[in-house]
Amino acid sequence: MSFSIIGTGSKSPSQIKTNDDLAQVMDTSDEWIQSKTGIRERRILGEETITDLVVESSLLALEDAGVQAKELDLIICATVTSDYITPSMACIVQRRIGANCPAFDISAACAGFLYAWDIADGYFIRKPDSKILVVGAEAVSKLVDWNDRSTAVIFGDGAGAVVLGRGEGLKAVKLNTRGDETALYAKYKKGNCPFRDNGVDETGQPGGHATFLHMEGQRVFQFAVSSMCRDLKNIVKQAGLELDNVDYVLPHQANQRIIDYAISRLPLAPEKYLGNIAYRGNTSAAAIPILLDEFAKQGQFKKGDILAFSSFGAGLTSAAAILEWDK
Ligand code: UT7
Repeated sequence: MSFSIIGTGSKSPSQIKTNDDLAQVMDTSDEWIQSKTGIRERRILGEETITDLVVESSLLALEDAGVQAKELDLIICATVTSDYITPSMACIVQRRIGANCPAFDISAACAGFLYAWDIADGYFIRKPDSKILVVGAEAVSKLVDWNDRSTAVIFGDGAGAVVLGRGEGLKAVKLNTRGDETALYAKYKKGNCPFRDNGVDETGQPGGHATFLHMEGQRVFQFAVSSMCRDLKNIVKQAGLELDNVDYVLPHQANQRIIDYAISRLPLAPEKYLGNIAYRGNTSAAAIPILLDEFAKQGQFKKGDILAFSSFGAGLTSAAAILEWDK
């Protein structure tokens, strides 16, 4: 395979909202949220924007890598909650960090960060000396209906980034999609085109851009559990390894109970699963890069460690990767 991680960075909003804070604005409780999800608190955007967080996490990753923005060959940003519909988040960040390479976003929801790795892998095969910035960023607080307690309580906002350089770190990456537009979605409204529906959308109001996020929680839960167990088993095989060879699993931080299911079904010691959901919540495409950066900065990984990644989300998409830590 084609690349190694040479720098990581992440940035979360400064505003912390605990489960008790949520119970002030909706009918829920700390007891319900903790027992059903493992989440105690999450970060929610206040005055800063998601673009600000992406810029900061990108600069931190570049600094960690010892790479100048102008040396970048490509920027890929995985997000479905950019501040703009167009231009892409990646284009805005390219200008703000002072890069001059091509830049684009991808939409693969929570699995987007690993989808971007697959794209980067192909790019490195064509241009092995590249330096690529891959970002996962999400401001789900802009998209959820804060009157829908079964969805709003699990999400948080944040951004994480990695700089990829030439290397042999990536051992395998695999993407899966099971198209489904009803389990987890947010839609554009119809707009106010005067040549359709008298220029009003389905709510009878003119204009508007998107509906709230709708999630069939239990259906997504079942997809998550089955895809995570299948993807982890398959990706280890694809990398020519055994599950025993995995030193750490970095799973999507969607719900602690999903991770606990995987722990109960796969022959891997529970302490190998890294997590931060208790204080970050589910940050969608940002979850894995934030988790990776936090544990990397704590010195958790040593050269030669085998890391297994697994993610899943709206689409329905899922993805897994195996990476040898060689930073
Ligand atoms: O990252 C993207 C992928 N997303 C996921 O992986 C999320 C997967 N799904 C889940 O994690 C879970 O489905 C949720 C945590 C979102 C919801 O848990 P659940 O066990 O599926 O709850 P539910 O929606 O089926 O609701 C069960 C009960 C209901 O009450 P009744 O009808 O049994 O009396 C709900 O009204 O829990 C109630 N409930 C709540 N009660 C207090 C739902 N949400 C809440 C809440 N506080 N926040």
